[in-house]
Amino acid sequence: MPVLRLVVASALLSVLSVGTVVASPSSVDEKIRNALQLDQNIARGEKLYAAECAQCHGQRALGSASRVIPSLAGQRRAYLVKQLADFSEDERASREMHAVINKPGLADEQAWADLSGYLNSLPRASFPQTGDGRGLELGEAIFQDQCASCHQEDGRGDDDGFIPSVRDQHYAYLVRQMRSIASWHRLNVDADLVRYFDSLDTEEATAVADYLSRMRGPIKDHERMNNDGTSNN
Ligand code: HEC
Ligand code: HEC
Repeated sequence: MPVLRLVVASALLSVLSVGTVVASPSSVDEKIRNALQLDQNIARGEKLYAAECAQCHGQRALGSASRVIPSLAGQRRAYLVKQLADFSEDERASREMHAVINKPGLADEQAWADLSGYLNSLPRASFPQTGDGRGLELGEAIFQDQCASCHQEDGRGDDDGFIPSVRDQHYAYLVRQMRSIASWHRLNVDADLVRYFDSLDTEEATAVADYLSRMRGPIKDHERMNNDGTSNN
């Protein structure tokens, strides 16, 4: 089984290659591309965040474990822009996010650029919610075999391919998102990746989420995590 999955993972890696959004409607693609080319006004992003986002994601953008709201601090910029565009265009389900992103001034490429620049510059969550600690060996083995090819061995993600950082994130949120992607609540995702998440059973998904939520230590490729010069971690 692991060998089979590894083959799937490397096939996926070649499909989801550098800098493209695969199988997405062209209007979302275009908005994402435009937003990534804009200058980011971090000070404006900070103001927008305090007014529109902090009540759910928290003052320091560390999320809420009990409400299953993700930490956004230090998340990768390209990934953040893509998620805001996906929420705005109904490519990703979430009642809460649709209500906020459809407000005047927020369904807007410049707002996404500014918010993403600000969030990427914030220090990451040092102690996110973790799981019960019983499946860590399994979680490590799955992650390093099946996921690190895309998310990187220290979970830092990659702006090429819009790959999120999956470290410093709350356990329950990670589990929920693996399920959400598997059940097509996020439409702007490659079909092979959706099938791949669907193939993970509950024990595997919770083990790998627990392993990620406990990942500590410095991000190994400092330069790449900071390649837009905005993150201090
Ligand atoms: C009413 C509460 C609420 C508000 C206000 C809110 N969010 Fe969210 N946000 C959520 C929830 C809940 C999720 C998780 C959705 C899911 O389960 O897929 C989320 C998810 C996200 C994600 C996806 C993160 C990831 O790791 O994929 C981003 C990015 C985001 N929010 C940014 C923002 C920004 C920027 C604002 C302000 C403009 C904002 N949110 C305001 C509740 C909120
Ligand atoms: C082929 C590359 C690839 C592989 C292999 C892969 N992922 Fe991902 N993953 C992605 C991409 C791209 C996204 C973002 C999807 C989107 O844009 O909504 C993602 C999203 C996620 C998310 C949602 C993060 C968030 O903040 O909402 C989690 C959790 C995740 N992956 C965990 C894993 C785990 C665990 C594995 C291994 C079992 C894995 N991924 C394997 C590319 C990959």
